[in-house]
Amino acid sequence: MKHDNPAPQPVHYRVHQHIAHIVVDNPPVNALGVAVRRGLQQAIAQAQADADVHAVLIVGQGKAFIAGADIREFGLPPLPPSLPDVCNAIEACSKPVVAAIHGPALGGGLEVAMSAHYRVASLAYVRHVLGEGGAVRRTCDQTDAMADRAQQQAAIDAARAEVARKRGLFSPAKIVDCVQAALDGSFEGGLRTERMLFEQCMASPQRAGLIHSFFAEREVLKSPETKSAKPRSIKEVGVIGGGTMGAGITVAMLDAGLHVTLLERDETALAQGLARVGKVYDGLIAKQRLTPEGKAAILTHLTGATDYSALAQADLVVEAVFEDMAVKHAVFKQLDAVCKPGAVLATNTSYLDINEIANAIFRPQDVIGLHFFSPANIMKLLEIVVPAKVSADVVATGFELARLLKKVPVRAGVCDGFIGNRILATYRTAADHMMEDGASPYEIDQMARSFGFPMGPYEVSDLAGGDIGWATRKRRAATRDPKARYVHIADKLCERGWFGQKTGRGWYLYPNGTRTGVPDPEVLAIVAEERAKAGVTPRAFTADELQRRYLAAMINEGAKVVEEGIALRPLDVDVTLVHGYGFPRWRGGPMKYADMVGLPQILGDIHTFALDDPQFWQPADLLVQLVKEGREFESLNKT
Ligand code: NAI
Repeated sequence: MKHDNPAPQPVHYRVHQHIAHIVVDNPPVNALGVAVRRGLQQAIAQAQADADVHAVLIVGQGKAFIAGADIREFGLPPLPPSLPDVCNAIEACSKPVVAAIHGPALGGGLEVAMSAHYRVASLAYVRHVLGEGGAVRRTCDQTDAMADRAQQQAAIDAARAEVARKRGLFSPAKIVDCVQAALDGSFEGGLRTERMLFEQCMASPQRAGLIHSFFAEREVLKSPETKSAKPRSIKEVGVIGGGTMGAGITVAMLDAGLHVTLLERDETALAQGLARVGKVYDGLIAKQRLTPEGKAAILTHLTGATDYSALAQADLVVEAVFEDMAVKHAVFKQLDAVCKPGAVLATNTSYLDINEIANAIFRPQDVIGLHFFSPANIMKLLEIVVPAKVSADVVATGFELARLLKKVPVRAGVCDGFIGNRILATYRTAADHMMEDGASPYEIDQMARSFGFPMGPYEVSDLAGGDIGWATRKRRAATRDPKARYVHIADKLCERGWFGQKTGRGWYLYPNGTRTGVPDPEVLAIVAEERAKAGVTPRAFTADELQRRYLAAMINEGAKVVEEGIALRPLDVDVTLVHGYGFPRWRGGPMKYADMVGLPQILGDIHTFALDDPQFWQPADLLVQLVKEGREFESLNKT
């Protein structure tokens, strides 16, 4: 005989001293899935029918009241009752309904709370309501706050201006429309508008993109090592190098409450490094987000040093010195000599071979890549780069550090550029090819912004400093495939010292130290000159073609990164591009975007582009295989 365990009831009902207790018990956050909606509707009906019940109390079990809709149901056929029906039933109840809110009441949870007649954070209040005569008090009848029409309209207009700044996002403006409808029409009309706009949001591809991002950001936390090993303890940390990255990493560590020793090569460089850290906090003081006393308190956790013995007690050290293998070797040799056994030794290198760094010391099992992004105290992504000999608990410690620093960790394998910079190098190359073939850098940046990136590739280069990419290109020159197409335009700018914002000009001009660039006719002249040298007859590109080539290059390299096991799953590529490279989160990331466009179309584009340049446009085997099998990248996300 088969015994099926009945599904646990997510809504409990009991009556105690004339009060019906409706308890939502749907871990982890009491999301409003269909079973909860049904349970709430039934419980309200039961309370309504029970003459012994004088009042109703809705509470959430666990940490949350109700933290919103169950977004797993979005995109599937809707199952009754809808949330508005449940809310209407609560509001229509002829007995006073009190929502006891002890934790998050988000989204639909707030709607449930609002549909109750009273909202409290103490339970005893229900007795008080009953003692006072316990009248029903429906939110839909509360119109006092809407009396000052001009003030309400001004608030709505301000909210509309605010959401307009959220580039490309569809849904925030709809919420403002809902509030406007509530102000302009009847309560019922408002509900109808709300439903209609909600359905528009549901039908938008942004819904699918955002939900993918939400779950991918949780899924990246799972790696083979976080499942198999426990992290080592991290309290005292060391940072080597107080330049752009080292200073930002120090701030990130201090903000997480860790004790930091910042080590530089000499006293002058140390003073500069410490000043860089102080400057970040001065910026917060200027914005009134920190007091001078607050800064002083934080800085008591920071020690400067020039002698490696200061790192003897560190649990974890992050090296952020010059991107030069010889310098890295020298630093790791010193760490090997002074650090206590079990200390995690991390490098923030962008491109260098971490296996080579690890293998040169006596404890390769303790060496890992922790690749932060600039500015390191702001950017959310942390690539956790896993060399061959590292032990699992060191990898788990990398994930633990990300948790402490409130960063989004993505596990990456060792290769030139890991996940993010490797893919960046490819789509930037595609952009350079398009530029040499006839598009201006400004058109390409514009295309990227219209897609939803905050900046295009040339604006990014001007912000980061053109010299960084130039150094990498020079390093790679010896190993570059001589058959591969090489565009010299960026080098020509660098040779003139045009590195971007810090030199006042790069791809753009930055007159008088401004940070918003203006197109530079001299750059366009250099582009034209280089086209002529390369024997290219420039042609026009539509915005659509620019976008298709840019995205196809990104997706194809992303597929190669997954195929080689550098990224665990396509979703790791998605999270990397979203949190480190400005890919719009509402599009889900490049691999999700590819699934939504359709992999056959992406592969078809690559084949077409390959007619001109088969060397660059070699389709990833994984992409070819998925198209053959009629599958999507999503099928590889399920581990
Ligand atoms: P940077 O040139 O601003 O800073 C390097 C610092 O290291 C300097 O302050 C220098 O005095 C110090 N230093 C050099 N040799 C040293 C030694 N032997 N001992 C102690 N300190 C020493 O460079 P940046 O941009 O901060 O880069 C550092 C590392 O971070 C590089 O490996 C780079 O590839 C990587 N990285 C850089 C990113 C960026 O956007 N700038 C992003 C992610 C990683």
